[in-house]
Amino acid sequence: MYRTSELALQVGLSRSTLLYYEKLELIQGQRLENGYRIYSDRDAQRLRLIQQLHAGGLTLKECKACLDSKVERTILLKRLQLLDAEIAQKQKSRQLLAALLGESGLKEWHESIDKIAPDAHLDWLTKQGFNEKEALRLKWISKDMNEHDQYMADFFNIFKELDRWGPGSEAETLKALAKVPFTPQNIMEVGCGKGLATMVLAKHCSAMITAVDNDEPALASLSERLTTAGLTDRVTTQCASMTDLPFEVASFDVIWAEGSAYVMGVIKAMEQWRRFLKVNGVLVVSDLVWLSATPGADLQEFWQKEYPDMSTPAIRIKQAEAAGYQLLDSFTISEAAWQAYSLPLQKRIETLKPEMANSAALLDIETELGIYQQNRNDFGYQFFVLQKNSS
Ligand SMILES: C[S@@+](CC[C@H](N)C(=O)[O-])C[C@H]1O[C@@H](n2cnc3c(N)ncnc32)[C@H](O)[C@@H]1O
Repeated sequence: MYRTSELALQVGLSRSTLLYYEKLELIQGQRLENGYRIYSDRDAQRLRLIQQLHAGGLTLKECKACLDSKVERTILLKRLQLLDAEIAQKQKSRQLLAALLGESGLKEWHESIDKIAPDAHLDWLTKQGFNEKEALRLKWISKDMNEHDQYMADFFNIFKELDRWGPGSEAETLKALAKVPFTPQNIMEVGCGKGLATMVLAKHCSAMITAVDNDEPALASLSERLTTAGLTDRVTTQCASMTDLPFEVASFDVIWAEGSAYVMGVIKAMEQWRRFLKVNGVLVVSDLVWLSATPGADLQEFWQKEYPDMSTPAIRIKQAEAAGYQLLDSFTISEAAWQAYSLPLQKRIETLKPEMANSAALLDIETELGIYQQNRNDFGYQFFVLQKNSS
């Protein structure tokens, strides 16, 4: 027989816990004449059973019910479901910690966090040691900080041989230029890449052009083109970020951005670049948009991950108006303009496949090209020619 303190020692519980259990009638000691309670070995065993059920998630009341009568399956089932949910949640937390330690991929996590907290996500990436350029590339291209360096190396290996880095063509650039209601004097092009649109603008108008990109090799390639074409006196290149452009307010009468505004977000771009435009200046942007009102669920899911901000032309026009512009023109680029980008890219993918068979970047680009092939009418690139309101 045990006294309360001896039993407490035996089962590893405190004396006050045992007194509480006694009060709940989980155990019932024999009261001696001197007022002390004593317990049998049976009580000790009952306590061990209670400890196990309690650790399994049952409340003390449920433990008692379980011991005193036939086991109630519904109670146990409910507890089991709760435990399973807790385990699943803990597994998720474990996976995230392991992934943050570099043990597995982080793609889904980056995508989900970017959707609910895009600015905090970028801030956090800079705290992890990524500069703004790499953080934006991670957000839009590699989407996994553990794989980022290899992914970007593969990505640039694929694109370095290609002139066009986004859908478009000379005809589309000229079509948009024709909608500018004055003769441009100073154009800033943002995200010019290797400068295919820059060359078209330079050859078809007499404006001074500042071509901005944050990728040095792309700008070097544009500089070569300019030298060959004898255009260096009218076109200058500038390595800078579109989020922090180093220009005075009202410096340009036209801002041109083909397939690049998405990097900082089209709304932010329209709002932040507006101050660089002169009175009645014009902003020309092209962006990926939904063309169908009823895209398939799989397609929606794909773009929800790749470009959550993808919009319809009508919504972008409303956003432009809210940002202080009026619409001069808007048009969808032609199939030929899409192919000017996709066909050389497809060819490059085929060439590189044997040596880059395991490249995630190659696979992702191939998937995206396939998505377009299968859903040609559901989405496309749209030009917006917008004039800055005077107010
Ligand atoms: C889809 S490509 C389009 C390039 C070019 N307009 C064309 O159509 O070939 C996007 C361009 O934006 C540039 N870019 C990305 N982030 C940038 C940033 N933060 N500041 C300036 N340029 C950026 C890339 O280097 C790339 O050249």
